[in-house]
Amino acid sequence: MAIKIGTVFNFLQLPDVSQFPFVISKRNDDTFIQKGLFVYTYSNEGFLIGIIERIALLNEYFTDALTIKAYNNNNNPNILKGLFPSEDFEFAIGIVKCLGIIKFEDDSEREIKKILRMTYPASPGRDVYILEEILLNQFIGFSREDGLEVGKVKVCTMDAKINMNRLLNKHFAILSISGGGKSYLTSVLIEELLTRDEEYGTPAIILFDVHGEYLYLKQTPELQDRVRIQDVSYFQIAVPKMSAYSFKKYQEDISPVQVRELSKYIKKLRKRDDKKGHYAISDIINQIEDESDGNKSTRQALIGWLSDLERLTLFGSQENPTLDKIIEKQKITIFNLQKEISIRKKQIILDYICDRLFKLRRMDKIPPFLLIVEEAHQFCPEAAHSKAISKPIIEMIAREGRKFMACLCLISQRPKRLSTTALSQCNSKMVLNIKNPYDLKHLMDSSEAITKEYATMISSLGVGEMLLMGNAVNYPVFIDIRERRYKSVTDKISLSQVCLSWDKKQLN
Ligand SMILES: Nc1ncnc2c1ncn2[C@@H]1O[C@H](COP(=O)(O)OP(=O)(O)O)[C@@H](O)[C@H]1O
Ligand SMILES: [Mg+2]
Repeated sequence: MAIKIGTVFNFLQLPDVSQFPFVISKRNDDTFIQKGLFVYTYSNEGFLIGIIERIALLNEYFTDALTIKAYNNNNNPNILKGLFPSEDFEFAIGIVKCLGIIKFEDDSEREIKKILRMTYPASPGRDVYILEEILLNQFIGFSREDGLEVGKVKVCTMDAKINMNRLLNKHFAILSISGGGKSYLTSVLIEELLTRDEEYGTPAIILFDVHGEYLYLKQTPELQDRVRIQDVSYFQIAVPKMSAYSFKKYQEDISPVQVRELSKYIKKLRKRDDKKGHYAISDIINQIEDESDGNKSTRQALIGWLSDLERLTLFGSQENPTLDKIIEKQKITIFNLQKEISIRKKQIILDYICDRLFKLRRMDKIPPFLLIVEEAHQFCPEAAHSKAISKPIIEMIAREGRKFMACLCLISQRPKRLSTTALSQCNSKMVLNIKNPYDLKHLMDSSEAITKEYATMISSLGVGEMLLMGNAVNYPVFIDIRERRYKSVTDKISLSQVCLSWDKKQLN
């Protein structure tokens, strides 16, 4: 049953093509008309969908300042209300922003075929109804069956079930101030992906956990079979897989001459029977030391650079973990970077893993994956702010990953510091509260869907509220993010509790 909530009328030169006003009828049930509600009416073009953008209350009795002054004086402050039935004359009007004309599959008006732009205003006198969920779902582009349920659409309290294919098809970004709820939202998304019906098909997830916030997933009985934590203290880059050029990537001061020299040594080392293709940086150094020909200073410099790399303890004769063995569909691999403080080391780790993942994916040796990068501005910064070893590979996946079903999720509290190339490829955006005007402006520049009005709303979002926009939906929607199903232990611990238990530790 369509719920009628009012009638289109003429007000302040409206309706026009983009807006129409309507008088909100008084209703006896508890239907509450609010800003943000999706409604529809019929125009000459057909079924017209819109969203209530503004609500105004009017009362003829209180329009004239002089009358109010004359009747209401200090002795009788409310005489106007007592003398006249003024309350009966209060009426509310809603201003609706038109969103599109709907064409249906058939006359039953249940299956949306396509959405067209309006070219003609709504007709005064026509009824206005609340848009039913079944249509709203299709209009926004949610997937009722197999969508990722992240919460409820604001105001209409309909389940927000993001279509996974649309979300992961073109990369996405999660942006907000620090403490805005990015990691929380990411956990909600991970929960949804890991617990999806297997028949629907779900990619592998790889996550770089900078603060150890996701380790709790392994402690959750319902999920632990699908979670693998990879401590990066055991991480090793396979030196035999590195070309001389990749050494330059990690040690950028190596000169071109030195790179050429290095590649000669590597070639010799590879040919050596006793090594069988297994060698570490120390072996390269030995190889250089053993040789007597070649420029001495070049060799000395190379040994210096290589020793410096060796000290990072990131390089070995074999890869650890063996990525093609551990990446599985609908399972998450969490690289725990919590204990690693050197930003250079973190970037090298990220760079190597991303590079390998992308290669393996292109060769179809691992399933399609979703790569989640927390604190993305540290790993893929805009050039003006800093340099990062991992930037080129992230930008490459951002540009080309889509063709190979390698999806990126970039999470950042400083969108302005994030590489524009990478951010602009993140077609869908989940925006939580952002206060910084520079970040807001950057966001407005990077996506045309964010108008000034949205920017104002973004800056006043509360914790647990987000704006979802871009490829994942046909129309930007505000969503109340649901609570996590599985709780993190750290969530419940307060500062004072930590102080208390710390005290006890000292006593014991
Ligand atoms: N949807 C939500 N529901 C309830 N609490 C939330 C929600 N989103 C965030 N929070 C709370 O806000 C705090 C900050 O969230 P977090 O995800 O760590 O922020 P960020 O990663 O953006 O810095 C957390 O302690 C979390 O409990
Ligand atoms: Mg966080």
